[in-house]
Amino acid sequence: MVKAYLFACLMVASIAAVQATVCPQGPESVDTTSGGFVYTYPWPIKYQQLSTQHQTLCQAYMDVEPVNCSSRSYDGPQRTVMMLHGKNFCGVTWNATAEILLSQGYRVIMPDQIGFCKSDKPDAYQFSLQQLALNTKTILDSLNITSLYVMGHSMGGMLSVRFALMYPEMVQGLIMVDPIGLEDWKAKGVPYLSIDKIYLQERASNYTSIRAYEQATYYVNSWDPAYDVWVNMLLQVYNGSLADSYAFDQALVTDMVITQPIAYEFPLLANLSSLLIVGGKDNTAIGKQWSPPNVQAILGHYDVLGGQTAQAIGPNCTYVEFPDLGHAPQIQDPDRFHGALLGWLESH
Ligand SMILES: *[C@@H]1O[C@H](CO)[C@@H](O)[C@H](O)[C@H]1NC(C)=O
Ligand SMILES: *[C@@H]1O[C@H](CO)[C@@H](O)[C@H](O)[C@H]1NC(C)=O
Ligand SMILES: *[C@@H]1O[C@H](CO)[C@@H](O)[C@H](O)[C@H]1NC(C)=O
Ligand SMILES: *[C@@H]1O[C@H](CO)[C@@H](O)[C@H](O)[C@H]1NC(C)=O
Ligand SMILES: *[C@@H]1O[C@H](CO)[C@@H](O)[C@H](O)[C@H]1NC(C)=O
Ligand SMILES: *[C@@H]1O[C@H](CO)[C@@H](O)[C@H](O)[C@H]1NC(C)=O
Ligand SMILES: *[C@@H]1O[C@H](CO)[C@@H](O)[C@H](O)[C@H]1NC(C)=O
Repeated sequence: MVKAYLFACLMVASIAAVQATVCPQGPESVDTTSGGFVYTYPWPIKYQQLSTQHQTLCQAYMDVEPVNCSSRSYDGPQRTVMMLHGKNFCGVTWNATAEILLSQGYRVIMPDQIGFCKSDKPDAYQFSLQQLALNTKTILDSLNITSLYVMGHSMGGMLSVRFALMYPEMVQGLIMVDPIGLEDWKAKGVPYLSIDKIYLQERASNYTSIRAYEQATYYVNSWDPAYDVWVNMLLQVYNGSLADSYAFDQALVTDMVITQPIAYEFPLLANLSSLLIVGGKDNTAIGKQWSPPNVQAILGHYDVLGGQTAQAIGPNCTYVEFPDLGHAPQIQDPDRFHGALLGWLESH
C-alpha cells in the first residue's frame, strides 16, 4: 500500500513538473534575465516550447515586423529574413542589420539557439546541426512562415547551410557570412580534444581571453571600443546563473561543429540562390588553438576557402570578398556589409 501510494505521488509530481515547464508567454514586456543571462534586448522576446530529447525546453527569439510597409525596397509579398547567430554572439548581435532590413520593409526573426543566450541551457543535450535546424524550423512553423531568407554568421552560417539542405523548399535565399565549416578541420589534422577539456577552457573564459580571440580572428588584430559591447554581453552569459550548464553546452557545440562537417555538401546547394560574404583576413578554424604548428598553418585561409566554396556551390552562388576584413564584416564595417547584402537582396 505504501509503495503504491509513493508511486502515485511520484507520477503526480513528474506530470506536474512537465506541465510547470511552460515557457514564458507574452505580454511583450522586455525580459532581462531569461536563460540565466542578464541583458536587455531591444525588442520583445518570444519563446518556442520544444519537446526535444526527453526534455521540455524554451527557445527564445525575436520576431519584428517593419513599421512602415510603404518603404519596401522590393516588389511582391512581404519578405522575411531569419538571422542565425554565431557561437560568440547572440540573436541580438544582429540588431544593426535588423534595423536596416526593417527600414527596407523586411520582417526579421532572430533566434537564440538552445544552449545559448536567452534560450534554455540543458544539463545534457545531443547537439547536432540537424537538431538545431529542426528546433529553428519549429519556430517558423509556429509562425506559419513557409518561405524566407536565411542568413547565418560563423556557426550560424554552418547551421544555415544545414537548414537549407534539410528544408530547401522553405529557403528563398541563403546568405552565409563568414560561415565556419568551409573545411573539414579533423581531416586536416586537428586532434580530438575531449568535451571535458573543452569545457574547462570554456569555464575559464574571461574578458581577456574572449577579447584576445575576437581581436585575432574577428577584427584583424585591431580593436574598436565599440566591440566591447559584444564581449561584455557574452561575459554576462559565462558569468550568469546558468554559467556551468552554459560552459558545458558550449563545449558540446564545439564538439558538434568539429565532428559534423558540411564541407562535402556544398554542391547540393547548386539550385538555391545564395550569397557568400567573406572577410579575406578571416582566419577562424575550430581546434586551431590546440593543433600543432604545421596543422595551424594550413587552417582558416578564408581568402582561399571562400572562392573554393562559391565554386563548389556553382553559379547560383554570388561571392563577395572583403579582402581587408576579418570574421565579422557586419560588425567591422557595417556600411560595406549592408551595401552588399541589400544589393543582393534587391536582385533576388
Ligand atoms: C513610410 O515610408 C514612405 C516611403 O518611404 C514615406 O513617404 C512615409 O513618410 C513613411 N511613413 C512614416 C509614418 O514613416
Ligand atoms: C546595437 O546594440 C548595441 C548594444 O546595445 C548598441 O551599442 C548599438 O548602438 C545598437 N545598434 C543599433 C543600430 O541599434
Ligand atoms: C497559423 O495558421 C493556423 C491555421 O491556419 C492558425 O490557426 C494560426 O492562428 C496561425 N498562426 C499564426 C501565428 O499566424
Ligand atoms: C583570463 O583567462 C586566461 C586564460 O584562461 C588566464 O590566463 C588569465 O589569467 C585570466 N585573466 C583574468 C584577469 O582572470
Ligand atoms: C560575475 O558575477 C559576480 C557575482 O554576480 C560579480 O561579482 C562579477 O563582477 C561578475 N564578473 C563579470 C566578469 O561580469
Ligand atoms: C538542380 O535542379 C536540376 C533540375 O531540376 C536537377 O536535375 C538537379 O539534380 C538539381 N541539383 C541538385 C544539386 O539538387
Ligand atoms: C540554378 O538554380 C536553378 C533553380 O533555382 C536551377 O534550375 C539551375 O540549374 C541552377 N544552376 C546551376 C548551374 O546549377
